[in-house]
Amino acid sequence: MKYFPFLLALLIVGCQNTKTGYQDQKTGTMGDSAMVVTTHPLATQVGLEVLRNGGNAIDAAIAIQFSLAVVYPVAGNIGGGGFAVIRTKDGDFHTLDFREKAPKRAYRDMFLDRDGNVVEGSSTLGHKAAGVPGTVDGMFKLHEKFGSVPMEDLIQPAINQAVAGVEISSFDAFNINKYQEAFREVNRDSIHFLKNGEWKEGDSLFHNELAGTLSFIRDFGRDGFYGGLVANQIVAECLTNGGFISKEDLRDYNAVWREPIVGEYRGYKVVSMPPPSSGGVAIMQLLQGAEEYPINKWGHNSPDAIHLMTELERRVYADRATFLGDPDHYDVPTKMLLSEDYNEERFDNIDLKAATPSEDIKEGKVDIIESVETTHFSVVDKWGNAVSLTTTLNGYFGCKVMVKGAGFFLNNEMDDFSAKPGVPNYFGLVGAEANAIKPEKRMLSSMTPTIVEKDGELSMVIGTPGGATIITSVFQTILNVVDHGMTMQEAINVPKVHHQWLPDRILYERSQLDTATIIQLIEMGHDVEDRGALGRMDCILVHPNGQIEGATDRRGGGAAMGY
Ligand code: GLY
Repeated sequence: MKYFPFLLALLIVGCQNTKTGYQDQKTGTMGDSAMVVTTHPLATQVGLEVLRNGGNAIDAAIAIQFSLAVVYPVAGNIGGGGFAVIRTKDGDFHTLDFREKAPKRAYRDMFLDRDGNVVEGSSTLGHKAAGVPGTVDGMFKLHEKFGSVPMEDLIQPAINQAVAGVEISSFDAFNINKYQEAFREVNRDSIHFLKNGEWKEGDSLFHNELAGTLSFIRDFGRDGFYGGLVANQIVAECLTNGGFISKEDLRDYNAVWREPIVGEYRGYKVVSMPPPSSGGVAIMQLLQGAEEYPINKWGHNSPDAIHLMTELERRVYADRATFLGDPDHYDVPTKMLLSEDYNEERFDNIDLKAATPSEDIKEGKVDIIESVETTHFSVVDKWGNAVSLTTTLNGYFGCKVMVKGAGFFLNNEMDDFSAKPGVPNYFGLVGAEANAIKPEKRMLSSMTPTIVEKDGELSMVIGTPGGATIITSVFQTILNVVDHGMTMQEAINVPKVHHQWLPDRILYERSQLDTATIIQLIEMGHDVEDRGALGRMDCILVHPNGQIEGATDRRGGGAAMGY
């Protein structure tokens, strides 16, 4: 009878635990000099052309960002924001924060009803959910510092794609069909994503209004978006529909160069994004904890390795919820969270044989959405410059509002704030005072664009979409390469697991963990639950012989191209 509860639990989580599919491919696309990996072949092509024509990795990244706004409208954007980590050919690191900001008229309880409860959907759907977009200012800041090709030439490919029309994939068709009702609900007039009947793979979307907006940006620079006609269109869209974004918000938006977060892991130098991303701090805490243990000896996805990662993750995500927010508005204790003394003590009570239960979720159990929203891309040029860039509207198509006349979606990034301490957001993440809503504050993010060096040379360019699961996907990818000696393609394709403190359970990819491992984890005291894909990584690994491997995730439809 001892095993009865475990077997019962297995029945609940599903018994189809045979490994299939993901493990087949050994290496990604190989190149001698340069590599581009994005979630869409047309965006990859645009980046590669920039590199072939003599542009550098930063030029390519800018062109890719604008192209993704056209060819990958679920998450590519000019109405959202993101983060970029850059390593120059000389080995200098820079991090750019072009995260959205809360509008000046935003206030702490803006998503609560009179009784102080969160109004369901208010932070995710419709105009109030939108933060002030940062992408366009971000691209101009990148260009100002590192660009070598005229900005017009980096925007033009996206304009051409918008006018020529883009054939949609089955993935696009599924998502555009899924949100038809939401598009109708929040847009007063028809938008070109609406259709009587179903969208099908191979249908074309023509983005004429977006082409017009991109032309304004090409011709008038930053002011072509944050001023003039486009700004008027954004403000009219928001203020006449209950949204908060004003002319002053757009005028004053500024992307910020921040001090990178730097750590070490088994002789590798790891560089990632500081707050308002939680990614860099969390990754460095996780790696500090992992370094103490013989992960390679335990084996990839062995019960011991999964147990250790889970115990580290539950502590780090608890820290995330309490301590992390926008450093311009809250005194984030970054130094403390990265200190060896702090982490030694933090992880000291890990029992290698038994789970430490997370606190109960008082607000009830949260269903995590099977989501790879957001998008990431990686670029390396022939000189050795590298860009790791993650960008997002938050949910697919953001708040589902398309700016009338301007042809692009606004984000729903306001949901990344903690609308009410302890109440989980869209990704099931809870937060506290550090991430409370305040005018002009940036909402906390999990986006973790990361670059890794070995012996002073570029080694990895990593990142992924996936909301709360971004940090743990990046963490596992580093362990897979460093501890388990995998190529980048293997590191990406092998099954992943995830734990985020609350809700207290290990997520694993459906049918991708064997039954014996699951039983052992349950015996250690863990709850386990299966779900769809974890992560959708587009990454680069420089092999010891100098060859550059570009790897796109088999869970998605991306493309790696190099030369
Ligand atoms: N919107 C998802 C994130 O920034 O983590």
